[in-house]
Amino acid sequence: MTAPLRGSDPIVVDVALGERSYDIVIGRGQLASLGARVAKLRPGAKVALVSDSNVAAHHLEAAAAAAKAGGLQVSTIVLPPGEGTKSFEHLAKLCDDLIAQRIERRDLVVALGGGVIGDLSGFAAAIVRRGLDYVQVPTSLLAQVDSSVGGKTAIDSPQGKNLIGAFHQPVLVIADTALLDTLPAREFRAGYAEVAKYGLLGDAAFFAWLEANWKDVFAGGPAREHAIATSCRAKAAIVARDERETGDRMLLNLGHTFGHALEADAGYSDRLLHGEAIAIGMALAFEFSARRGLLPKAEAERAIRHLAAVGLPTRVADVSGGTSGVDRLMTLIGQDKKVARGELTFILVRGIGSAFVAPDVDAADVRAFLAEKLA
Ligand SMILES: NC(=O)c1ccc[n+]([C@@H]2O[C@H](COP(=O)([O-])OP(=O)(O)OC[C@H]3O[C@@H](n4cnc5c(N)ncnc54)[C@H](O)[C@@H]3O)[C@@H](O)[C@H]2O)c1
Ligand SMILES: [Zn+2]
Repeated sequence: MTAPLRGSDPIVVDVALGERSYDIVIGRGQLASLGARVAKLRPGAKVALVSDSNVAAHHLEAAAAAAKAGGLQVSTIVLPPGEGTKSFEHLAKLCDDLIAQRIERRDLVVALGGGVIGDLSGFAAAIVRRGLDYVQVPTSLLAQVDSSVGGKTAIDSPQGKNLIGAFHQPVLVIADTALLDTLPAREFRAGYAEVAKYGLLGDAAFFAWLEANWKDVFAGGPAREHAIATSCRAKAAIVARDERETGDRMLLNLGHTFGHALEADAGYSDRLLHGEAIAIGMALAFEFSARRGLLPKAEAERAIRHLAAVGLPTRVADVSGGTSGVDRLMTLIGQDKKVARGELTFILVRGIGSAFVAPDVDAADVRAFLAEKLA
């Protein structure tokens, strides 16, 4: 927890990746600086603003005006909202549209949206003309603290989420915290699970700050900016150490092994949003760690209590419509990419703020634990 609380000045977090380094600019009203900031990086560039229809209805006009204010030529592409847009069909159409709009090597793609638009636009930028630069203007809390940072881009395959993609870092991220005012409350809360994750995995002081200040984070203002900046700083530090997820970056998967299985079991539907699944997954990871004697039960309970206090689900029983049972969940966990030879790689915890990669968790232990939770 290193960022001071600030007023109207943006907080700038550096993602230190050598010649691929970039800034994350965080603050209320920062969308207005889009044109000036892009013009500084690429004077006279054309920008293609890519959005979904929900976000476009609220923010596309302001984004286009901000880009034009920097003297940039602007074209727009609006896609349907929802995870289904991360498909080959929409990728192909987006690539064709970018080419038709004559977006060339010195031009830019600007992703204005949540993680769906960010992941799809980033991937299109990675492959059109063998690589275009792109800017992320994340509009969901999840996108501001997670998906817009770190350069993972992807679409989904019928076999699973995010299976087709590329590492492609943006050249700039502008996280305007005021854009979150139009985000549905349930989406904001789900994104908050990833904010809490940074405290739970590596920053006990930040977690304690969240326990005391979460209401202000939800309300907006400087506390929200502080929470987003602290989250981005945590992710940026991990990505700078391990861009391609061969080690430390795996810590960002705290709660995700259980969470992905629950999310897949619920069919990636409104029954369970990603962040909600991750809240349950983190609660399970803490309980499972406590049961293995890695931390006191009371500390696991404290972690879970905060997630529940903000209104996130924390128990498997909280999934609306229920789950398909332990066999199905174990199959889904087995399909998770973090599996090797019957042993599971899990992110476990020795306490709040002390997650670690456990490469050798016995699948039978996980099954017994889940069976008990489902009983
Ligand atoms: N690349 C990464 O590192 C990474 C990390 C985490 C998640 N992801 C991906 O991110 C995606 C989920 O992102 P998400 O939760 O942002 O979903 P999303 O993009 O579907 O956005 C959630 C919903 O909120 C709407 N919305 C977004 N911003 C809004 C705003 N300001 N006002 C009103 N409505 C708004 C969207 O239209 C959508 O209906 C998943 O596909 C996931 O795989 C990627
Ligand atoms: Zn996540």
